[in-house]
Amino acid sequence: MYTPDTIRFRRTPARYDVASRLFHWSCALLLVAQFSIGWLMPDADSVKTPSGLVAWHVGIGSALLVIFSVRLVWVVMRKAPGSDEPRMVLRFLAVAVHSSMYVLMLLVPLLGWLNASGRGWVVRLAGIWRLPELATANSTGAALGEWHSTSAIVLLIFIGLHIFAVVVHQIGFRDSLLGRML
Ligand code: HEM
Ligand code: HEM
Repeated sequence: MYTPDTIRFRRTPARYDVASRLFHWSCALLLVAQFSIGWLMPDADSVKTPSGLVAWHVGIGSALLVIFSVRLVWVVMRKAPGSDEPRMVLRFLAVAVHSSMYVLMLLVPLLGWLNASGRGWVVRLAGIWRLPELATANSTGAALGEWHSTSAIVLLIFIGLHIFAVVVHQIGFRDSLLGRML
């Protein structure tokens, strides 16, 4: 028999663990900074040595690559809260969008690194530790790095879809999905 309590319980699914929530919101904040700097910084073709906003973009971007990698290891190890979404198509869409974001979170900074190395820039992790060159000028790696900006836009589209889905859950379904990540 359903009581108000059982209904409240059904509508309040478990939250993500504290590490997942910290990863989620710190990565979201850093991504806002990273996209803003990416569009505000001077044209990369006019830059010989990264400084100012360009150095910040390279420093934060390489730190994001490390943070995303650690986050992925955690995603594989953790026990995620089960979904109580009854519609299979929505469960499938959520998994598809989350998985695409995980792939892009690694691909975008890796392509940025290839792009920077192809320009002969020194890449410093968080602006401090020098990382190896991934590509040389006119190499295949440098050509692949040209996809960096496009891949960043694709990531942004997936983030948009993700936020749209959360808004639909909050306002349309009123199932407090957002509470799982707060
Ligand atoms: C998740 C991390 C990253 C995001 C979201 C991101 C995003 C962006 C964006 C939005 C732009 C501007 C594109 C445009 O003007 O149309 C850009 C350009 C650029 N980024 Fe990143 N970036 C990231 C990581 C990195 C890393 C790690 C590096 C280097 C180590 C890097 C190097 C560059 C370079 C060289 C450009 C100029 C590319 C060009 O004009 O062809 N980025 N990035
Ligand atoms: C205003 C911005 C955002 C809101 C309100 C939001 C909200 C949420 C919520 C409620 C969940 C849990 C979904 C579920 O349980 O099925 C979630 C999961 C997730 N979000 Fe976001 N999100 C935001 C931005 C982002 C950004 C910028 C990214 C980065 C790419 C991101 C990546 C993810 C991923 C990969 C998951 C799966 C769970 C996990 O990785 O631990 N989100 N988000």
